[in-house]
Amino acid sequence: MAHEIPGPDDACMSDRTGRRSRIEARRRIAGLVARKQPARRPGAAPARTLPAKPGRAAPTPARVVEASPIVKWVGGKSRLLAQLLPRLPETYGRYYEPFAGGAAMFFRLAPEAAVLNDFNADLVATYRAIAGDTDAVIRRLELHRKHHAEKHYYEVRARWNDRSVSWSPVDRAAAFIYLNKTCYNGLWRVNRSGGFNVPMGRYVDPPICVPDALHAAGAVLARAELRSGDYRAAVADAGPGDFVYFDPPYDPVAPTANFTSYTRDAFGPDDQRALAGLARELVERGCRVMLSNSDTPFIRSLYRGFRVDRVQCARAINCNAAKRGDVDEVVVMGGY
Ligand SMILES: C[S@@+](CC[C@H](N)C(=O)[O-])C[C@H]1O[C@@H](n2cnc3c(N)ncnc32)[C@H](O)[C@@H]1O
Repeated sequence: MAHEIPGPDDACMSDRTGRRSRIEARRRIAGLVARKQPARRPGAAPARTLPAKPGRAAPTPARVVEASPIVKWVGGKSRLLAQLLPRLPETYGRYYEPFAGGAAMFFRLAPEAAVLNDFNADLVATYRAIAGDTDAVIRRLELHRKHHAEKHYYEVRARWNDRSVSWSPVDRAAAFIYLNKTCYNGLWRVNRSGGFNVPMGRYVDPPICVPDALHAAGAVLARAELRSGDYRAAVADAGPGDFVYFDPPYDPVAPTANFTSYTRDAFGPDDQRALAGLARELVERGCRVMLSNSDTPFIRSLYRGFRVDRVQCARAINCNAAKRGDVDEVVVMGGY
């Protein structure tokens, strides 16, 4: 959600459950409410509006920046949000996203209280750096943008993989975003020894540094608890009324469709089983649980007793454009 300037129609305060944000998000999807202005960052100049001409209404400021993913990520949920948002629970306490990746849902909900987790420590460190000092990350990214070229890309990649280099968190975050935005197909892939090995992509003008988007994301990240580890540990303190959204690596629809190299560890059938067991446990604990996965007989068998809706999603990351077609996915819901 946009970081908003409190105004007359913001008199209704957001309660701890974040319910207002979700209702607004849904109404926005339905086109029922206009988007609001982003908040002013502390110290930032007030938004500039043109003076109204006599006889004309004051112009509406044009720039509205809502938080959205700042990295391109395999399995990103931006395209599925319209189908996920109407299926959210009406109310909830803390929001948990244990398989964050690009965290499209988290950024859209912009929850007041949240735990964001991913196994990928570099990704979470990037989120931490942005939450801590967005402007410093932007300054480094501007330099990458200025120097972007094949030579620069491979130098940054070599440095990224060189264990003898010591980085400041901000430099490392900027390098992560730079490589993510300019690498082939936006695919963050590491080899067995953890090295990032993706060649440079051929983009005309890759969006290496988008300050407004980074500020919007930084504001939302700054109020979340950022964790890096296994999904099980990430939800250990989820309690009654909390909402857990699981977006794990998907069960492959075909053997070749398996993509499990976000980190060095694959996510196989035993992991899917363990995850389903945890989802049940959380529902028994009083949590509200939502999960997305591919629509396979195996996944359906794991979530018997849950509400399971089939939805369609256009897959974004596939080097072969012909294979980017719509695929069936399921949204699993329990505890609400
Ligand atoms: C499908 S992606 C999530 C996509 C995300 N919802 C988005 O909008 O971009 C799955 C994520 O789970 C992470 N992951 C894989 N195994 C994990 C584990 N055991 N614990 C925590 N995170 C894990 C991967 O690093 C990856 O970022």
